[in-house]
Amino acid sequence: MKKYLLTLVLACIPMFATASGSGVALDHMKPDLLDNASLQRGAALFTNYCMGCHSMKYARYERVATDLDIPASLYEENLIFTGAKIGELMQIGMSAQEAKGWFGAPPPDLSLEARLRGTDWLYTYLRAFYKDDKRPYGVNNAVFPDVGMPHIFADLQGVCAHKPHFGEPVSFDPLSGIEHSSNGCQEFSAKGSMTPAQYDAAAYDLVNFLAYMGEPSKLDSHRIGTYVLMFLAFMFVFVYLLNREYWKDIH
Ligand code: HEC
Repeated sequence: MKKYLLTLVLACIPMFATASGSGVALDHMKPDLLDNASLQRGAALFTNYCMGCHSMKYARYERVATDLDIPASLYEENLIFTGAKIGELMQIGMSAQEAKGWFGAPPPDLSLEARLRGTDWLYTYLRAFYKDDKRPYGVNNAVFPDVGMPHIFADLQGVCAHKPHFGEPVSFDPLSGIEHSSNGCQEFSAKGSMTPAQYDAAAYDLVNFLAYMGEPSKLDSHRIGTYVLMFLAFMFVFVYLLNREYWKDIH
C-alpha cells in the first residue's frame, strides 16, 4: 500500500512544476482559436512587425488566408510584402548569417514558437521590454534577459522605465476602481500610441495567431468535432429507441 501511495505522490510532482523555463513568473493568456477577428488582427501584426526578421517557413500564405477567412486577393495585396505568390511558404529575405552579425543571434523561425515556449511565455515576453542603456538597442527583457531582439513595439507600447514584474493577480479597490497591484509596466520612459490595455489586447491577438500557427489543424478539429457531437446526439435517439424495443418483452 505504501508503495502505491509513494508512486501516486511521485506522479503528482510534475503538476507542481512551473511552466516557465526561465523561472520568471508569467502572465496567463488563454488562446481562442475560434475568435477569427483576433486571429486576423494577429496575422496583420505579425506581417507588419515581425516578418522583417522572422519567417514562418512551415506555413503557406494560402492556408492562413483560407483558415482565417481572408480572401486570397485581399491577403496578397495587404499582407505579402516580399513579392511572393499566395501559394508560397512564408519565408523572408534576411539571411541568418547576416542577422547573426547584426543582432548577436539570428531571429529564429516562429512557426512552432508557441509550442516551444508556450503562449503564457510569449504573451509575457512581448510585454516585458524595458529601458536598459547597457544593451546595444537600449532595451532589455524581463523574461528573456539580454535578448538580441530590439523592442519592435516601442511605438505602440512605449518604453517601460523599469524592469516590469509579472504573474501577480490584479486587484481593484471596489469603491474607487483603482488598481492596487497590476502586472507589467508601472512607469514609462517613452510614451506609445496605445494604452496599456490596448497594448495587452494587441499582444493577445499576436500570441493567439502564433498559437494557431503552431497547430493549424486544431481549427479543423474544432469544426469536425462539432459535427461528430451532432452526429452522436442524433444517433442517440435511434439507439435509445432500439434499446427500448429489444428489452420490451423481457421485463
Ligand atoms: C529587427 C529584427 C526583429 C524583428 C522585427 C522581430 N524580432 Fe523577434 N527576434 C529577433 C532576434 C535577433 C531574436 C533572437 C534573440 C536572441 O536569441 O538573443 C529574436 C527572438 C524572438 C523570440 C524568442 C525566440 C526564442 O525562443 O529564442 C520571439 C518569441 C520573437 N523574437 C518574437 C517576435 C515577434 C512576435 C515579433 C513581431 C512583433 C518580432 N519578434 C520581431 C529579431 C527581431
